[in-house]
Amino acid sequence: MPTATKDIEKKIEALREKIRYHEYRYYVLDDPEISDAEFDKLMEALKKLEADHPDQVTPDSPTQRVGGKPREGFVKARHSSPMLSLDNTYNEDELRAWERRVHELSGRKDVEYMCELKLDGMSMALRYADGHLERGITRGDGSEGEDVTLNVRTVRSVPLSIAKEKLKKAGIPADFEVRGEMLMPIAGFQKMNEERERQGLSKFANPRNAAAGTVRQLEPSITAQRRLDFFGYQLLKAGRTYFDRHSETMDALETAGFKVNRHRRLVKNIAGVWEFIREWEEKRESLPYEIDGIVIKVDHRNVQEELGFTGKAPRWAIAYKYAARGGITQIENIIVQVGRTGKLTPVAMLKSISIGGTTVSRATLHNMDEIERLGVKVGDWVEVERGGDVIPKVVRVVDDKDHPRGTREFQMPEKCPVCGGNVVRTPGEADHRCVNANCPAKLRETILHFAARSVMNIDGLGDALVNQLTDRGLVKNVADIYKITKDDLLKLERVGDKSAQNVLNEIDRSKKLPLERVIYGLGIRFVGERTAEFLAEHFGSLDALMNATEEELQEVNEVGPRVSESILEFFQEPRNRELVEQLRKAGLTFAGKKKERGTKLAGKTFVLTGTLAHYTRDEAKKMIEDAGGRVSGSVSKKTDYVVAGEDAGSKLDKAKELGVKVVDEKAMKELLS
Ligand code: IVH
Repeated sequence: MPTATKDIEKKIEALREKIRYHEYRYYVLDDPEISDAEFDKLMEALKKLEADHPDQVTPDSPTQRVGGKPREGFVKARHSSPMLSLDNTYNEDELRAWERRVHELSGRKDVEYMCELKLDGMSMALRYADGHLERGITRGDGSEGEDVTLNVRTVRSVPLSIAKEKLKKAGIPADFEVRGEMLMPIAGFQKMNEERERQGLSKFANPRNAAAGTVRQLEPSITAQRRLDFFGYQLLKAGRTYFDRHSETMDALETAGFKVNRHRRLVKNIAGVWEFIREWEEKRESLPYEIDGIVIKVDHRNVQEELGFTGKAPRWAIAYKYAARGGITQIENIIVQVGRTGKLTPVAMLKSISIGGTTVSRATLHNMDEIERLGVKVGDWVEVERGGDVIPKVVRVVDDKDHPRGTREFQMPEKCPVCGGNVVRTPGEADHRCVNANCPAKLRETILHFAARSVMNIDGLGDALVNQLTDRGLVKNVADIYKITKDDLLKLERVGDKSAQNVLNEIDRSKKLPLERVIYGLGIRFVGERTAEFLAEHFGSLDALMNATEEELQEVNEVGPRVSESILEFFQEPRNRELVEQLRKAGLTFAGKKKERGTKLAGKTFVLTGTLAHYTRDEAKKMIEDAGGRVSGSVSKKTDYVVAGEDAGSKLDKAKELGVKVVDEKAMKELLS
């Protein structure tokens, strides 16, 4: 190998090690040493080096977390040894009974226990070969799971590779398996659900379902956006526990750079266990993720082996489950709320109860399917749970001698409760919607969305004010916000001179927010925060976006047929075009920074097909666009080049049929350079 190549190789590897270290500080230790901007700079530098030396790209490079094309399904994979579940206990007596069994079966009384948080996610097995992450497998039925490696690779707290010295220091062999819990932190879960709500998508019920749904996403780039976290708690070699003590395993995993939950304690008896349980019953509220109990494990492997397993669970470990943060109360009424997209949501009005210190007086029933599933009627007593989501939910109807059944069946109204407009349920969909475009409820929600912090950030324009403004007809669309006068505001209830002025200042200030916020604020279905950013970056102005064709829209990152259709529909509606004109008059930001593009490939149209070895689709697309080219989704006579990777399909056939030039990845690189 020539020295120059060797130097580059060294430089790239050194940069990778540096990035890995900072990823570890940030995602594993939650204790970054450098700013996000500095980190991004390192990543950019590595990406550039790798783009210039594509032969140097390795699968464990930090740039390679997201890759691969969407799949149609997952391949099954057998576990090295069964992934067991745990038996549950619910009180101190049951725990003591478990300890007695441990003493009897092992013939020892000096057993030590490790207490750990029972993380509420899904268990996963990660296999490493020669220090490199090889496979990530879901638990499945315990003996066989699904290979979700591409998704696992996007989780930043999962090391893609571990240096030999590090493994050696931790005492871990080069080939090993780590099992642990994949979960979604509460903050990310809430943000994701808010975003889904804005986009008119159904929400996930709790962080566990969200984590499970995310791990089984067929599109790895989506998994990458929804931040998951992984905590290790088992280390196996050829399917068997490797270290003599569980406490050693936890320390070794930590040394090797895995995220290991630090809230753990080695205790000498059940009294110690009980203390830990009591402590976390309170403290769990302050954790950034959900737990549903405590796991207690016998620390010594030889004692574990003596105890063995029952059918599906080890005898050497047990779960203590906290009671769900819920309670039983009565449904006094079921009302219907109308959202921004016109969706009708039935809400149970409850006799107030206190759950985990919060007063709960309403709970969502989601939709008609859910009401039928629960079989719920007005007057029923129900169990209500408050999960990671802020909105409590009804989990079941209670039916016993102390809690007689209700009698009044709920029916979805045929007319919108707010405007009297027609309500329809599209066949195959769970939701009922009000079809009146001028429904005031839709208007209210649209205004609230526009004013929200992550959108135009108009502080003070909340529920109370928006209700009054829309009720009095002062605001009929988002552009009217910019026509509000001080006199208008002073006529409203509970608005004084100072607060009126504050709101006006806020409204004025919002005009300076960048283009992507305006796009997001329009409330186009399926256009969330991120998509709005891509659109702003790609088109550089609202006018260019407004006049874009379907093809042009689909050139944008992450914009597919569904999103482009929704954008086209939005701008085809004359009322929406008029709205945009009014916003322009009001002086909102209509132009942004269009990404600077080269001219090398100006006028050339590309189609990508198959899997490229060194780039994801999005990366290749970006490179072509940065050089002035266009990337289209389908092959036509106008296509200049089809870039074919591995497993190229029908697009390649079409190219051959039409006589379009087909190039491979290397030739594409040459065109770019
Ligand atoms: S140990 C053979 N430790 O709880 C022992 N499990 O209800 C395997 N879980 O399937 C599990 N936190 O998904 C263990 N600290 C922890 C855990 C934990 C959560 C989950 C795991 C398991 C389920 C059983």
